[in-house]
Amino acid sequence: MIRGRPGVALGSMGVSEFRVDLRSDTVTRPTQAMRRAMAEAEVGDDLYGEDPTVSRLEALYAEMVGKEAGLFVPSGVMANQIAIRTHTRPGSFVVAGRSQHVVVFEYGGSARNAGVQFMTVDDSSGSFGSAEVQEARSALGYYEAPLSLVCVENTHMPSGGRVWSLEALAEIRRAAGDLPVHMDGARLFNAQVASGVPAADIAAVADSVMSCVSKGLCAPVGSILAGSREFIQRARYERGVLGGQMRQVGILAAAGLVALQTMVDRLAEDHERARVLAEAVNERFPGSMGERQTPETNIVAFDHPDVDALTRTLAAAGVIANPIGNRRMRLVTHHDLTDDQVEYAAKVIRGLDEA
Ligand SMILES: Cc1ncc(COP(=O)(O)O)c(C=O)c1O
Repeated sequence: MIRGRPGVALGSMGVSEFRVDLRSDTVTRPTQAMRRAMAEAEVGDDLYGEDPTVSRLEALYAEMVGKEAGLFVPSGVMANQIAIRTHTRPGSFVVAGRSQHVVVFEYGGSARNAGVQFMTVDDSSGSFGSAEVQEARSALGYYEAPLSLVCVENTHMPSGGRVWSLEALAEIRRAAGDLPVHMDGARLFNAQVASGVPAADIAAVADSVMSCVSKGLCAPVGSILAGSREFIQRARYERGVLGGQMRQVGILAAAGLVALQTMVDRLAEDHERARVLAEAVNERFPGSMGERQTPETNIVAFDHPDVDALTRTLAAAGVIANPIGNRRMRLVTHHDLTDDQVEYAAKVIRGLDEA
């Protein structure tokens, strides 16, 4: 089986050479400008609050998403886990979409790190509505089980990077009532670029929001969590509980600053490239992308009856990609691709025969 699961090296997948890497936007490498900024970064011990570069990154992100304060953390998973620990109490429930990253791809961490249980709702369209939140509330209300958080993912990766509409988000805010809402905005800036709506407006309904600078924005490491000053103060403590405190980490925050300052607008190129790949997928596997055949952002997700065979066939042609489920395949576009590589991958997909 050839799968680019997180942590599985290409060598052990039986792939030594390839031409196009569509596994994830996390494969992007830091740009020259980032490397220069890292080399020159002013640093200090961040646990003492003395790293000026980290403080600048946290403040910039908080401003971009319209929140009072930010917290730099090593990964998107840790940002989500800290948010869940900070908002909830053990033994309570969290409403989230069935296929969201926090539910499926975080190693079951929320159960161990926060002692919570997910009440999952249908998110196959890329979002969910007040009816789903109400249903979860009334099911839990039967035994008076405590509900402590609603969690949304924007863009929504498994549906193919779909963007939540502002109306859908406002509906969730209303349905959540006095419960906090956390937004997993790992790719929030893809949503901003695709919709033309500023990240701060998208995140306005959320009490906390996190984004990764390590994905399409090309920084080597890091995510930032933002919320009210009081929330971030508590989140900082929870980061320590998880062992996520860092020291002269301005060296990484410097790359994050370049990412937020210079790499957001170019995400439009990734979206355009995803459309090129989607055309090929639609031609070769009509109907496999569901009702929405044009990706809004940088992810093409489609159904296929044998994702392992498809992965092998693509890899043999030098195109590597990840399945994200037993019958679901994913192609992700990013900065480190060329137009020629994308055209080549589209040609390979069109020419697939038995897969
Ligand atoms: C939607 C979403 N949330 C969170 C994460 C976690 O980010 P990280 O890999 O930095 O832990 C990912 C990673 O792919 C993601 O796609």
